[in-house]
Amino acid sequence: MDRNLALELVRVTEAAALSCARLMGRGDRKAADRAAVEAMRRAFDDVQISGTVVIGEGERDEAPMLFIGEQVGAGWKEGAAKMERVDIAVDPLEGTNLCATGAPDAIAVIALAQHGKFLNAPDTYMEKIAVGAAARGAIDITRSATWNLSAIAEAKKARVDDLTAIILDRDRHEKLIAEVRKAGARIRLIGDGDVAAAIATCKESTGVDVLFGTGGAPEGVLAAAALRCVGGDFQGVLRPRNDDEVRRAKSMGVSDIHKVWHLEELAAGDVVFAATGVTEGSFLKGVRFFGGGAYTHSVVMRSKSGTVRWMEANHHFERKPNYGWITEAP
Ligand code: FBP
Repeated sequence: MDRNLALELVRVTEAAALSCARLMGRGDRKAADRAAVEAMRRAFDDVQISGTVVIGEGERDEAPMLFIGEQVGAGWKEGAAKMERVDIAVDPLEGTNLCATGAPDAIAVIALAQHGKFLNAPDTYMEKIAVGAAARGAIDITRSATWNLSAIAEAKKARVDDLTAIILDRDRHEKLIAEVRKAGARIRLIGDGDVAAAIATCKESTGVDVLFGTGGAPEGVLAAAALRCVGGDFQGVLRPRNDDEVRRAKSMGVSDIHKVWHLEELAAGDVVFAATGVTEGSFLKGVRFFGGGAYTHSVVMRSKSGTVRWMEANHHFERKPNYGWITEAP
């Protein structure tokens, strides 16, 4: 895969972040999401790929843009030269509530892989465990949280009470939270955003050692793509809520609903991952506006080289293409 693509992708996550960040704290998660989706969709038109969305905003009939199966990129334009065929996983605004309330860790996210290399995850739940490179190979989602905490502590030459687990604050996690507390680890409960939470396990400065719990399956694929690039580890098991979700998963090619999905099965081959901070976060700063422009903070990573690039940018609105972001406060 062309390595310059990684830098092109950052422009796309920047466009989404610049667009929805204007709506931070306005209490309207749908408007924030729409702003991110529209900007991301337009920015894709300039990217030199023939891309197909495999993880997106939903099925064609429920999402006007970036729906599953939608073709994006300059390669599909009439008369365009032949361009690399890739699959795309997007979450234009991961953490819509976080943006709507100005809470930390809302991000704009894209992952890209060669055609056929992402799990086409159905829009259901997935139980997840994620750790950074130091605990790679130590985790086993079929075992208890207590067992995993001991294994992670051993791999990190630490004690269980040195570890911090990050968990979505949901009623469904009541038993999990009680178990982690009993085991002695510290807990950071978050309101939303388990992609950023999974990535946080890979960055020592965040102080987070492991992500436990159940969140969206599409977010699981995005997290796995990031963790492939930085050498972390991830396992997931689909947790459909009803027969309809089981049927949908099967229709998307998942024959064994109870299967444990490992990192390389969720995001295989040559993977590129890009994210831009929307609100202030544990690993990315949020968008900051100044007169006539804005500052963004992004990360882009490639599984092939393992390079992780942090990028700060000052954007001047009158001097760059407007992908639909709001240049004046609404
Ligand atoms: P949105 O960006 O779609 O609001 O998702 C946020 C999120 O917290 C994800 O990070 C997580 O995987 C999922 O929602 C959890 O779902 P639920 O809110 O139903 O528990």
